Amino acid sequence: MNLISVDDLTNEMYLELFGLTEMFIEVSTRPIPKVPTLRGKTLATVFFENSTRTRLSFETAAKRLSADSLSFSASTSSLSKGESLFDTINTLDAIGVDFLVVRHSRAGTASMVANWTQAAVINAGDGCGEHPTQSLIDCATLVRRFAKPDLESLDRSKTINKYLSGLKIAIVGDVLHSRVARSNIKAFTNLGAKVTLVGPPTLIPDNIESWPVDVCYDLDQVISEMDVIYLLRMQNERFDESMVPSTLEYSKNWGLDMARLKRLGPDGVIMHPGPINRGVELTSEVADSTQSLILDQVRHSVPVRMAILAMLANLIGGGHE
Ligand code: NCD
Repeated sequence: MNLISVDDLTNEMYLELFGLTEMFIEVSTRPIPKVPTLRGKTLATVFFENSTRTRLSFETAAKRLSADSLSFSASTSSLSKGESLFDTINTLDAIGVDFLVVRHSRAGTASMVANWTQAAVINAGDGCGEHPTQSLIDCATLVRRFAKPDLESLDRSKTINKYLSGLKIAIVGDVLHSRVARSNIKAFTNLGAKVTLVGPPTLIPDNIESWPVDVCYDLDQVISEMDVIYLLRMQNERFDESMVPSTLEYSKNWGLDMARLKRLGPDGVIMHPGPINRGVELTSEVADSTQSLILDQVRHSVPVRMAILAMLANLIGGGHE
């Protein structure tokens, strides 16, 4: 079993992952925050793009599950000597790895790698494609904050689309180039939330009619109706010419400052997958405010990624109890 896209997740898997996440949050509070679930297994992070939190949290998750971890970095590898991606993956396969956590600038790479290896492949971001594990972190963060307690008494597998029902989420900014947005639109909608995309017309995809979302180009028009403002980073590395007039113009129209936060209301929350650009997507005051869940997202990244690894290990029949 691989995790390439949010489409790979069934209702039962979301539930299992939320349950396991709670268990691993408890494990993280122990003096020795380690369990033997993946003893004897090896995980390799294979990153062809830079990363701070995704790589560190996957490697921490693997260690807390007692797996061994290897770290492959494109810039320091034999790729610079001309080795192909195919041969790199074959090499890792021959060394013997059980999980390959892959990040690449080209959409579709994780799925291609999955055809070349025996290991379970986890997509840690493929260009403008998807980023399903970030999405699960964001869902777990929202479920812990907003899910309704009465759901516990119902047949849980039939109620996954009610977990976040009624919740209004605006995804703001560079939707066009964002793999996080692509995964989150699907996952938030699967859990019953209503998603509105907000941003400059040049950064909202053309084929949007087929997506289960509303679109608004004016943040001030919708902000007071929202429960969650999910900010995206401008993915400058994915486009050649400027698609917004200027950074100043962008932050004036779509950036979150204290005046806009006030209009969101005291129960509204702010999210961002990181890395944040203070002064562009949001001001420092907003980023550090009590309404910001940005560090909660990072805190949840280890237990959620532990949950993902434990679930996949179980599905491929390899985990220890
Ligand atoms: C995101 C990514 O790399 O896709 N970051 C992350 O994984 N936390 C978002 C981004 O780089 O803007």
